[in-house]
Amino acid sequence: MTAARTAPDILSAEFAANPYAAYRIMLDDTPLIWHEAMQTYIVSRYEDVARAFKEPTFTTDNYDWQLEPAHGRTILQMSGREHAVRRALVAPAFRGSELERKFLPVIERNSRELIDAFRGAGRADLVTDFARHFPINVIVDMLGLDRGDHEQFQKWYMAIIGFLSNLSQDPDVTAAGIETREELAAYLIPIIQERRANPGDDLLSTLCAAEVDGTQMDDEDIKAFCSLLLAAGGETTDKAIASIFKNLLEHPEQLEAVRADRSLIPRAFAETLRYTPPVHMIMRQPAQDVELAGGVVPAGSTLTCLIGAANRDERRFAHPDRFDIFRDDLPTDTAFSAASKHLAFALGRHFCVGALLAKSEIEVSVDQLLDAMPDVRIDDDVTPVEQGVFTRGPASLPVRFTPVG
Ligand code: HEM
Repeated sequence: MTAARTAPDILSAEFAANPYAAYRIMLDDTPLIWHEAMQTYIVSRYEDVARAFKEPTFTTDNYDWQLEPAHGRTILQMSGREHAVRRALVAPAFRGSELERKFLPVIERNSRELIDAFRGAGRADLVTDFARHFPINVIVDMLGLDRGDHEQFQKWYMAIIGFLSNLSQDPDVTAAGIETREELAAYLIPIIQERRANPGDDLLSTLCAAEVDGTQMDDEDIKAFCSLLLAAGGETTDKAIASIFKNLLEHPEQLEAVRADRSLIPRAFAETLRYTPPVHMIMRQPAQDVELAGGVVPAGSTLTCLIGAANRDERRFAHPDRFDIFRDDLPTDTAFSAASKHLAFALGRHFCVGALLAKSEIEVSVDQLLDAMPDVRIDDDVTPVEQGVFTRGPASLPVRFTPVG
């Protein structure tokens, strides 16, 4: 019998450089870990992570300290009826006709404008010139806020995502997150009050008017939700766009298949979400002692669920370390719904509200980027590297191409 390998440390430099090697050890040998410095239990296997997302015993009370200081109280912390009502208030804006009619033109325009800035240059960094700005610009536009404030939003966005990823609790990063909460409130509350008086055809006005069973959101609720959107809808999609291009550029035959048949973009997106999910870990707080992964996770403790590991569990996916948009164990028709087989959008009650919006953003932007860059390739002598532990994506993605026309 071989001795079990030591449990990897998710705060170590080795883990940050290559979490996938550590995930393999966890999946094989240490499916339940106690991390002393982070004061958290950690699970990695698909079955355990999926259970933690689906069973109500695993509450989201951890967001009281993880998110509330930066955003105020948001939907992610809610449970039971309060959560169901809040979901019913916000979800319609992000699906179906509302998404198609109002927001598709916004998505197309914002993608085109960013590409226009580099389409003649023959080179671009797809992270800094495109991915980092596109989803934030879309959200600012959807909310009907001043497009001149894009840069200000970019600053708030960077402070908020810094706060959320602050696993080692750096005090300066914490302070910047809390300051952003105050600045964002000072900016947004007067605009929300204005929209209540003079509603328009924008998302902010829709949120002000939304009513379910006699319940409406107050100004603070709406401000907190907008703040959450910057992180939940910004950083995630930012990382997803960069990752889909990195994965395709590193697999040129799959890139060419997608270029030739754009209906494959959702497949490439689903496989990117499995193989390199933007959010690698999500936390939960059990309400009771729970038996999980061969041990007991006590009531009130923090449980870290490794999405990045679960998505590479060979008990669930064949050849999990292979990027293959044609794999037959990841159906695309469910990949953007709560019946999804990958766990990148979580599962259960808190399943990502913006999954269909993210799909539209990826479909439009990948299609436009492929048109603008007919022979796109990674810049000479560059090996793109992934960065981040909590959320993860390419740090930069410099490409070259022959300009069209
Ligand atoms: C590729 C892009 C995206 C990824 C990977 C992603 C991932 C996730 C995950 C993992 C959760 C569950 C969190 C938990 O259970 O603790 C979530 C929830 C959520 N996401 Fe996304 N997301 C993406 C895009 C978006 C977009 C574009 C929006 C904008 C509307 C959005 C808004 C939300 C909201 C509001 C929630 C909270 C839902 C609830 O608590 O009921 N996300 N997302």
